[in-house]
Amino acid sequence: MSYNLLKGKRGIIFGALDEKSIAWKVAMRAKEEGAEFVLTNAPLAMRMGEINKLAEHCNAQIIPADATSVEDLENLFTKAQEILGGKIDFVLHSIGMSPNIRKGKSYGDLNYEWFLKTLDISALSFHKVMHVAEKQDAMSEWGSIVALSYIAAQRVFPDYTDMSQAKAVLESIARNYGYRLGRSKKVRVNTVSQSPTKTTAGTGVGGFDAFFDYADKMSPLGNAPAEACADYCITLFSDLTRYVTMQNLMHDGGFSTMGISEDIVELISK
Ligand SMILES: NC(=O)c1ccc[n+]([C@@H]2O[C@H](COP(=O)([O-])OP(=O)(O)OC[C@H]3O[C@@H](n4cnc5c(N)ncnc54)[C@H](O)[C@@H]3O)[C@@H](O)[C@H]2O)c1
Repeated sequence: MSYNLLKGKRGIIFGALDEKSIAWKVAMRAKEEGAEFVLTNAPLAMRMGEINKLAEHCNAQIIPADATSVEDLENLFTKAQEILGGKIDFVLHSIGMSPNIRKGKSYGDLNYEWFLKTLDISALSFHKVMHVAEKQDAMSEWGSIVALSYIAAQRVFPDYTDMSQAKAVLESIARNYGYRLGRSKKVRVNTVSQSPTKTTAGTGVGGFDAFFDYADKMSPLGNAPAEACADYCITLFSDLTRYVTMQNLMHDGGFSTMGISEDIVELISK
């Protein structure tokens, strides 16, 4: 169902790789709600070509950008404003990658060059996005910027290794840039801490199936699916949440407030 929540709004959506991606679902919902936006992803990810289907469906243009490159981001924000015909109302940062996780390195055996890459791609890129938006004065007043996080920023999930630190930095950047952009442009900046979700990035983490099932059994509402995460992001881009900023918002079916659940007790008592 559409409520026209984003009618007349212009956006940039990072991170739609394939139809399982959270960003893909956000783009579909944003279109339904009347937004115009450009899609972007790393040039390498474009090679898969899946994003073209989404672009066609949403009548959106694609502008490749490596989110770690300030130059690419400058080009992206310049072109996005040209294409969309004005300043940007919303940005979704849906980017995460750890070479250490990809290569199966344990926390005690991290490659530090890769650790820096994890931080650059998954956290500093968020700072760079807002830095470029600020320098170009590209955001509309009362605009909204959202990045996706995970509870490993606060709690220990051993297989999430250096991504845990990346998410902690990401959430801190949201608070600190949220202050700047709030004061200067009334732009709000938040992170959404999403349940484990079966996407390329998600299932790449060791033991994913176990912690997906565990989180599902711990959460009174069950794990939040990607579609529901998209709905939540849409509300954050809409004018209905204009005074929510500098928050890490839990979108996890109740997981983060639980100690133990009856389902888990039952499972362990078997
Ligand atoms: N899947 C989960 O369980 C889960 C849970 C909580 C939070 N998240 C977060 O959600 C976000 C989206 O991930 P997803 O689960 O949809 O997986 P995904 O693999 O579909 O998306 C990750 C995206 O990051 C992009 N990316 C990687 N390096 C990049 C770079 N240098 N420049 C630009 N883009 C780059 C990839 O191309 C891909 O589109 C990530 O921040 C992830 O950490 C995921």
